[in-house]
Amino acid sequence: MKIERSATEVEAARRVAAALDLLLRDKPHANLVLPTGRTPVRLYQELVERAGRGQVDLSQAHVFQLDELVGVPPADPRSYCAFLRRTLLHPLGRPSDLEHLLDGSCPDPEAAISELAQALADRGGADLVLLGLGRNGHVAFNEPGSSLDSQARVTALHPATRSGVESQFGDRPAPTHGMTLGMKEIAGGRALRMLVFGAGKASILKSVLEDPVSPERPASLLRPLDRLTIHADRAAASLLSQDDRENHTTRRR
Ligand code: GLP
Repeated sequence: MKIERSATEVEAARRVAAALDLLLRDKPHANLVLPTGRTPVRLYQELVERAGRGQVDLSQAHVFQLDELVGVPPADPRSYCAFLRRTLLHPLGRPSDLEHLLDGSCPDPEAAISELAQALADRGGADLVLLGLGRNGHVAFNEPGSSLDSQARVTALHPATRSGVESQFGDRPAPTHGMTLGMKEIAGGRALRMLVFGAGKASILKSVLEDPVSPERPASLLRPLDRLTIHADRAAASLLSQDDRENHTTRRR
């Protein structure tokens, strides 16, 4: 993997947007697996702005939703589906038949996430997987204990993840499970970019990069992949050892 450090989140968002532009020039129908959460917000703004100026064209790309909260319907603004639509897909004005989104309230979430994974496989797999990093080292909803060959599935939220989710659900019982692409589908992407921003992610980023690779920190399982780039801002990279901080771009296993 490669670490690409930027001074700020804005700078990192510009770099990722530029990389995405290059990918789409080469392959306009690329398959993109996209995350939600606070982390990708600036990037999605950047993409919408660039698209408005004709500097990136996402109109033909297939978008696959990375994960979703079980039981939360797309009409609920807290659903990941609603988030993706609101922050990226609707502002881009893309054709909806190129969107592979999840309905957290569907009767069989296990089947729904498997179908999404199958649709991705049928289209040749992901050209780019964008990821955030959970504070316990999770990737999408691959919680601690997930192995590299875990497939798309429904998972029980780890207590740390659950307490984060609970704060948004005062009015109804908070979700206890997530639908998620597995480590297998994620690691199978032709390129992976993990975004890690802010001081709150500094200690987990250090652990993911510097502690032994372990299913207890699923993100660390991706570390051996050459096709993974971790984009960290200065605050998130602040606890990394000198080796990881010396150069602007660092390769490490
Ligand atoms: C959530 C999601 C992940 C996301 C992560 C980080 O639990 N399941 O897909 O990447 O947590 O979220 P944030 O970007 O808000 O820190």
